[in-house]
Amino acid sequence: MALQTHTAPSPMAPIDFESIKSLTKTEARAVDQLIINELSSDVVLINQMGHYIVGNGGKRLRPMLLLLAAKALGEATDRHLILAAVIEFIHTATLLHDDVVDESDLRRGKESANAVWGNAASVLVGDYLYSRAFEMMVRTGNMRVMEILSKTTTLIAEGEVLQLLNCNNPETTETKYLEVISRKTAILFSAATRLGAVISGASQETEEGLAKYGQHLGIAFQLIDDALDYKANQDELGKNLGDDLAEGKPTLPLIHAIQNGSESDAKIVIDAIRNGKRELFNEVYAVVQRTQAIAYTEKRADEEAEKAIEALDVLPESDYKDALIQLAKFSVQRNY
Ligand code: IPE
Ligand code: IPE
Ligand code: MG
Ligand code: MG
Repeated sequence: MALQTHTAPSPMAPIDFESIKSLTKTEARAVDQLIINELSSDVVLINQMGHYIVGNGGKRLRPMLLLLAAKALGEATDRHLILAAVIEFIHTATLLHDDVVDESDLRRGKESANAVWGNAASVLVGDYLYSRAFEMMVRTGNMRVMEILSKTTTLIAEGEVLQLLNCNNPETTETKYLEVISRKTAILFSAATRLGAVISGASQETEEGLAKYGQHLGIAFQLIDDALDYKANQDELGKNLGDDLAEGKPTLPLIHAIQNGSESDAKIVIDAIRNGKRELFNEVYAVVQRTQAIAYTEKRADEEAEKAIEALDVLPESDYKDALIQLAKFSVQRNY
């Protein structure tokens, strides 16, 4: 695809993701080890696929958020580590399912699991990862944890189904879109930071503040993901551009383009959503640019990141709190 365009860089100072990562390096290594250990099954295909997708990288952002929340409140205990792994398992399961639904053949810079092993295997191993996550969660012996995580996975599934209903529907509003991304993406971020607080025995106020932070950050994260599907450098992103359009997904860049474009421009986008055609990418992208739809999406993400940062007022000052602030900014500035 010839599109490697970038919009103007954000005026904010660049975020050093690696130095944020270094604050939870030891714990993150332990979480990765847990993930590897817990992936093992005597069913060979589960091992193969699990190690394939986990081994292909990923930012490990959700476990990082849980660990930073824990360290901002004290120390990251063994139970925090287990839950960080659980959150990454759930995330990985959603990716396996998502690539089937979205018919995506590139993930983390490699062929997606469904491209290698097929849809049936991806769905089944995704289910396995969900079950494994719940098995691990039970080990914490904490009813609140189980309540939070089971509610979370229900909301994620609802978000995915709601999104399916919006596909090929150009009348989808910004409100409906926000409802989808709140559930399918933000709720897992929110569960990560909330669980950090719950296991640390934080006050109700602190728990709610951290949950709110995760929720707003998750919305910002998905808003940018949806902008990147149009404007990223594909190699850096490690996913195909245009997968959302191919599926007729009415994401915010398109919703804004329809509402702010000329009649003929709006028609281009409406037809593209109805028919979900990747071949229309260049035409649609031209409308997205003419209507400054990416800039609008980034502005909305910025607002959500600001709300996330405000919610951190419940935390005492520390390097970990600063890192959480930086991660909210990273979610908006990221290119991958
Ligand atoms: C991808 O999440 C799915 C979305 C919610 C947009 P990430 O961008 O965190 O994926 P990895 O784990 O880094 O690959
Ligand atoms: C995120 O939506 C899906 C999940 C919450 C699993 P996308 O479909 O945009 O995610 P990517 O772009 O494929 O990672
Ligand atoms: Mg997808
Ligand atoms: Mg996407």
